[in-house]
Amino acid sequence: MTKKDYLKDLPDITVDDIVKDRNKIINEASESFPKFEYNANVLAKELHPKVQYVKITDIEDLDDAKIYTLEVDKKNASGKLAYFRAGQYISISLKIGDSILTRPYSLCSSPKEALEGRYKILVKKMVDGFASIYINEEFKVGTELEISAPSGFFVYEAIRDAKNVFGLAGGSGIAPFISMAEAICDGTEDFNLTIFYGSRKEENILCKDRLDELEKRSNGKVKVIYVLSHEEKEGYEHGFISAELISKYQNDTNKYSYFVCGCQPMYDYLEEELQKLNIAKKFIRMDAYGEYRLTERDNDFVNGFGDKTFNITVITNDGKERVIPAKSTETLLVAMERAGIKAPSKCRSGECGFCRSKLATGEVYTPEKVERRRQYDKVKGYVHPCCTYPKSDCRILVNCEEPIIERKVKDMKKKERTMNLVMSILISAAMGALAAFLVMKGNPDATKTTPVPVMYISNILISVTVGIIIALILPLGKLGRMLASKANAKPPAMKFTLLNSLPISVGNTLIVSFVVSFFGVFMARSKAPESAVADMPPLPIMWIANWGKLLIPTLILSYLISVLLSPFVSQAVGLTGAGAEVGRAASGEE
Ligand code: FES
Repeated sequence: MTKKDYLKDLPDITVDDIVKDRNKIINEASESFPKFEYNANVLAKELHPKVQYVKITDIEDLDDAKIYTLEVDKKNASGKLAYFRAGQYISISLKIGDSILTRPYSLCSSPKEALEGRYKILVKKMVDGFASIYINEEFKVGTELEISAPSGFFVYEAIRDAKNVFGLAGGSGIAPFISMAEAICDGTEDFNLTIFYGSRKEENILCKDRLDELEKRSNGKVKVIYVLSHEEKEGYEHGFISAELISKYQNDTNKYSYFVCGCQPMYDYLEEELQKLNIAKKFIRMDAYGEYRLTERDNDFVNGFGDKTFNITVITNDGKERVIPAKSTETLLVAMERAGIKAPSKCRSGECGFCRSKLATGEVYTPEKVERRRQYDKVKGYVHPCCTYPKSDCRILVNCEEPIIERKVKDMKKKERTMNLVMSILISAAMGALAAFLVMKGNPDATKTTPVPVMYISNILISVTVGIIIALILPLGKLGRMLASKANAKPPAMKFTLLNSLPISVGNTLIVSFVVSFFGVFMARSKAPESAVADMPPLPIMWIANWGKLLIPTLILSYLISVLLSPFVSQAVGLTGAGAEVGRAASGEE
């Protein structure tokens, strides 16, 4: 068919036909605006849901540990589970007695399984554990759970990590490496993984059959070296995962990354061993290991805090206050959880920042090993309660979610504007009255031409009008709070009131008295006989002289009024109390 024939065969449609069809579609369409979501937002919600609902569908018993299979529950609106990277963890929400808490567990399944609506986690029963014992005893097939989206940075990044990864694992720290090995076997990840798995005895090795099977399936990409510390057996390495043992399996031509997952003492030990191998820091990754437990061994942990209990005032984002006890050896997060406060948390080791809260007052201790706050947070007094220990009574603002923060800040700013306006009106009204009094006192003849009440009322009216304009234009209230904040003064301290009152009283006095004195001089000149005016100095000179006379007494009066009344006014407009603290902290003013 030629191009000409093709064109000939096209239906004979005119522009009129097209317009007719279009109008028909428009007329038949619904009146309401179509609802749609951008694909990027839909994807973001699927990848990072705030919460996921799952049900336990299978439990594999491994003596002192269990592998739980979690499948997507019908309560999950998306009907899916969020995808993850091998090495990440999920955080489970638990209610044990009166305590509301979370626990992070590494996923030990392949990310591919998440696409089928399934996760697997490995939970080891710790002898002195709290949550792990509860999980071990209470979780059954059918138990419904609320979990977080997968999180964590313990993942292989081709752009950062060497192609050969040494996974150094101890106990249940094997979980993320099983996930990595699964991901390598099914083609999700592409790197070579050598796992050094340390256990006390052969019987303590978790998931040995699965690890051996993964090694076989991986075409040489996964290798597992079992290291027994309390037993010597053929086919196993003996001792600990030392620098010497690691060097036995690496050659000089290859580059390696070292991923560590296990208990805290193992991290301390391996840090030293890896140092012996002169490995650049960027090639070492340590997984978040949950709660820090060795405060009493820390050199910088102040001696004598061991048995102390402090009062912690917890202010939540709804503005409610609760005073709870907290031991110096337990984190602020644990104290809140024990008291039944649903404080946010995920990693519980200072890494994710999900628990970030504002410390309003009090002294705390954060171990150096888990100190991962940004510099801004350190300066502004934000803490990670999951790894922060009280050293005194404290006041802490928690759970400030983004929309609530915005609302609180807006609310607080509105109240501050009201406070500013009320204070300006009060100060300027008093100044107007004082100015009228001083004018009459300095010039008793003034009352001959203007009755006393008119004198007072007109002065007050002018002052108040100027005061309102000042309040609407100048941020004197904000200036006062900045001044107080710079001096570290907080309400209800007297220092705060004294500093906070300065800009509003000085600013109002300067401007109001300037205007009022002009008005007074102008009125006096306009009512004086012409001969008297001729003897008077020029208007600007009279104006400045009059202003000078007014300045000192009005300054004293306005500052006194501001200092005496501002605490009551701020109370009346609701600028004190926990809600205001939440707003202030959220806006970064403190
Ligand atoms: S829970 Fe992750 S930093 Fe506190």
